[in-house]
Amino acid sequence: MNKVVVTQKLPYPVVEKLSGYNIFYNDKDTQMDRNELLMQTTDADAIVSMLSDRIDKELIDNAKKLKIIVNYAVGFNNIDVVYAKEKGIVVCNTPHILTETTAELAFALMISVARRVVEADRFTRGGRFKGWTPNLFLGTDLYRKRVGIFGFGRIGQAFARCCRGFEMDIVYTGKSRKFDGELLTNAKYLPFEEFVSTSDFIVVTAPLNESTRYTFTIDTFKKMKRDAIFINVGRGPIVKESDLAFALKNHLIRGAGLDVYENEPEVHPELIDLENVVLLPHIGSATEDTRYNMADLCIRSIRNFLEKGERPWNEV
Ligand code: DGY
Repeated sequence: MNKVVVTQKLPYPVVEKLSGYNIFYNDKDTQMDRNELLMQTTDADAIVSMLSDRIDKELIDNAKKLKIIVNYAVGFNNIDVVYAKEKGIVVCNTPHILTETTAELAFALMISVARRVVEADRFTRGGRFKGWTPNLFLGTDLYRKRVGIFGFGRIGQAFARCCRGFEMDIVYTGKSRKFDGELLTNAKYLPFEEFVSTSDFIVVTAPLNESTRYTFTIDTFKKMKRDAIFINVGRGPIVKESDLAFALKNHLIRGAGLDVYENEPEVHPELIDLENVVLLPHIGSATEDTRYNMADLCIRSIRNFLEKGERPWNEV
């Protein structure tokens, strides 16, 4: 009987959908301890991994029967994909189904920071609202401002579509032009320097890889507009978090909204004390519909591959 390891509790009837398999299901909302993960995957045929699980050489070498890894995320920087492939293991993720959901969260962060929604909520709950005043929580408009998208793939383009409703001037940068995306969203390509220095909002939706790691450091923040707002729903290490904290503290930029962090689940301590940043606990794809669909895709990919030998369409 094939063994499937599901490393964390999913909003999905895992046990029922994997009937006929030997399942190890970590039915808890906490990450599996590394030793237990190594132990349980020793004889596993398939793994449903979370973005917080390190699927590295050690684990792959230890999992002698492993045939397929399905990551419960679109990002897969937690997996040594090259090594897994060398070993003949199929690696999949959950693309497409979380695109709009993650784009919506990026938009929610952008508008929250621009209109100081979280700060104003804290103020009201703290009993400090003593009446309307012309200067209370002045924010900045989105309407017709320039929004720069770093990572103009599926999520970046879905985010661009949200921005069109606000008549924003959409620009993007990257290694290459995306002509389809330009046509669909009316976005313009800009070289990195111009992108950084002219955008009112910079929104990171890119995956983490060696070309995106530490793209945003103090040098980049210094080149941004003093009024710029920086959003990251991609991956934490695309940004040097201590540099971002410095930029926010010293008002080199206006504000930031983050869903991802350099060393998750740690958040740079200086960010915690700042009012001009909204901090979310990596919930980009966290809606009931999307998380269910992600789980369904993971389980179907495993079953179709192990039972019918079907190569998954979502292989990375
Ligand atoms: C993912 O799935 O990789 C994203 O981080 C969405 O939250």
